[in-house]
Amino acid sequence: MRISLSLVLFLLFSLLVDSSDLPDVPARPVSRAHAELTAYGFPIGLLPADVRGYSINATSGDFAVDLHGPCRLTLPPDNYLAAYSEKITGKIVRGRIAGLEGIRVRALFRWWSITGIKSSGENLVFEVAGVSAKYPSKNFDEAPSCEGGKRASS
Ligand SMILES: *[C@@H]1O[C@H](CO)[C@@H](O)[C@H](O)[C@H]1NC(C)=O
Repeated sequence: MRISLSLVLFLLFSLLVDSSDLPDVPARPVSRAHAELTAYGFPIGLLPADVRGYSINATSGDFAVDLHGPCRLTLPPDNYLAAYSEKITGKIVRGRIAGLEGIRVRALFRWWSITGIKSSGENLVFEVAGVSAKYPSKNFDEAPSCEGGKRASS
């Protein structure tokens, strides 16, 4: 039965292909900055969808990401409130972001700067005030939208 064999092969192939490559998944608002994140081994969900501009020095890894404005959002999986400055800077090499400025999280009644992020592929390790917190990378597969604030009317 040639037809059913090709159907089986097709289904197998579909399972092997990353779901983000399937055509019926709506296109995500991924910018060049998000693409660059994945090239360095990080998930796109570390940056909000609302990126205006981006620059990197490929030699040193120094980067700057410009958003359309300050941005607040809720980070999975523990629903920490995060605040992104309009400009986020740091130094990126494969699997590691250091000297990060512009991302803060709310915990224990105050704001803490995330100063570094490491990626081991399966996990992200966030450095906050000399302490680190590990979360599965799969929680950051989508670029989140900023909450409230300025947004173009649709
Ligand atoms: C990029 O970084 C290298 C190494 O730190 C530095 O020598 C170079 O001037 C930088 N380039 C730009 C355009 O800033």
